[in-house]
Amino acid sequence: MAFLEGRNLHKTYRPSRHNLVHALRGVDVTVGEGEMVGIVGPSGSGKSTLMHVLGLLHAPDGDRNPPASLVFDGVDVTGLPDRERTRMRAERMGFVFQTFNLVPTLTALENVSLPAEYAGRKRTEARKAAGEALAMVGLEDRTGHRPMELSGGQQQRAAMARALVTNPALLLADEPTGNLDSENTAELLDLLRRCNAERGQTMVLVTHDPRVSAACSRVLTMEDGVLVGG
Ligand SMILES: Nc1ncnc2c1ncn2[C@@H]1O[C@H](COP(=O)(O)OP(=O)(O)O)[C@@H](O)[C@H]1O
Ligand SMILES: [Mg+2]
Repeated sequence: MAFLEGRNLHKTYRPSRHNLVHALRGVDVTVGEGEMVGIVGPSGSGKSTLMHVLGLLHAPDGDRNPPASLVFDGVDVTGLPDRERTRMRAERMGFVFQTFNLVPTLTALENVSLPAEYAGRKRTEARKAAGEALAMVGLEDRTGHRPMELSGGQQQRAAMARALVTNPALLLADEPTGNLDSENTAELLDLLRRCNAERGQTMVLVTHDPRVSAACSRVLTMEDGVLVGG
């Protein structure tokens, strides 16, 4: 069985009563365990929406025929209640975003500890894991810094440590190098590759960056709410 498999995924946003945006229009996607899959495609084609659906941040439309189905690591997560989705996300998935999304008032160590605490670890254990994750991304000497006291590249590495602190089976990243210069892109890419190769973490990376897609084992192209080719 595939590690991650979505069938007939649709997602409709309803920004107002008279306005519908059909962002996913029947996506079928299969990701094998240990794969590093890139998702490319024009702006507005539904890449972020697909990442949010695969990462259980949004549920796919539930009123389709045939019905949507989403299976993650042998578990049918399609109709899972919110609580269970949240738990699954906290324990098994890590997320990296283009804008880093660190909490500005917390130190790097505190930011990185949060997901470990959400996943149920005691605070002291979470802090210990956070220290290790920060060391893994080369920020062992920046644990007490707040995001504003870190460079962009360092912030993204801290965000990467935050995604890795629970040692998730699946890492989802949305334009992770979108705000990085080429040197920091190379460093982040190296980190992603290492996590994939050495820790066996499965990755789905939405990207515009040809260097990132070139590092992927497979690249899928999104167009107008569906996957075309790849
Ligand atoms: N929260 C939202 N509410 C309404 N429309 C949205 C929302 N998020 C995304 N969209 C729309 O859905 C479509 C797909 O967006 P998105 O998944 O962000 O594409 P991409 O990441 O490929 O740029 C776009 O038309 C976008 O405007
Ligand atoms: Mg996007």
